[in-house]
Amino acid sequence: MSVAAALVSGSLRALPWGARVGISALLLVLAGGLAASGAHLQNQHQNRDERPGVSLLDIEGAYHGVEATAPLVVQLRAGHPEELPAPERELLLSWLSSKRISEDYDSLELGADAPAEVLARRCVECHSRTGLEGAHGDARIALGTWPEVSKVAFSRRVEPLPTAVLAASTHAHALGLGSLSLVLALFLFLTRFPARLSAALCGLAGVALLVDLGSWWLARSSAGLAPLLVAAGACYATASALSIVLVFLDLWLPRRGGPR
Ligand code: HEC
Repeated sequence: MSVAAALVSGSLRALPWGARVGISALLLVLAGGLAASGAHLQNQHQNRDERPGVSLLDIEGAYHGVEATAPLVVQLRAGHPEELPAPERELLLSWLSSKRISEDYDSLELGADAPAEVLARRCVECHSRTGLEGAHGDARIALGTWPEVSKVAFSRRVEPLPTAVLAASTHAHALGLGSLSLVLALFLFLTRFPARLSAALCGLAGVALLVDLGSWWLARSSAGLAPLLVAAGACYATASALSIVLVFLDLWLPRRGGPR
């Protein structure tokens, strides 16, 4: 059967065998590309807020920039732990807002007022390795040693990606993913599946990609777009993955009453 005849047959199953093998291989390449994008996203963004895993704060940091207040400061300001006497809370907060966080941590000159001493007196009972493994597992972090304390002691300004980097990324993503989605949409409409399903996937992928790439830029000036950006990216990836699966199925599933 000629390719033209196959294309009007209502299914990609009618294409010659070689074409189906080739297109399937390319679909696998695309699926691999999608998976690699996921892994890349993880690597690129996960440690912006210095905590493992990709959080909304990481994404906000990449596209808008964030003030990441040290967890120690957040908790002390929030009045945790209640039993901490006010002068010691002040002492810890002024240490944490100083430029000498690492220098003064265990300073001998400060004696019993050294932050390490206050932490040992007031916090380590719950926040220590043994505490966490024992009765105080809910305290989540250890504060017994400098390596442990330093992880939660620093507030930082996370700068967004430089404009030039964002432009390079936009140029690659817009042209690459835009063309990919156009081709996938064309293939989808050539499958046996209901045109409504193809239209829904095509609509979702197109709008999601536009919103995703658009919010990369809008997020620079407007805070709070990170959830939209993430949701749009997730919708786009899902719609693309589904389209790939559907085209693949149409290439290989036998058709009832159709060519074998
Ligand atoms: C009586 C036990 C206890 C003491 C004492 C205590 N904490 Fe906690 N702390 C907890 C528990 C339980 C949590 C987790 C629940 C919560 O967030 O309230 C916690 C949470 C925290 C967190 C947030 C951890 C995270 O995962 O983000 C920080 C920071 C913290 N404490 C600092 C301190 C500091 C500093 C002191 C001493 C000045 C202190 N805590 C004293 C029990 C304690």
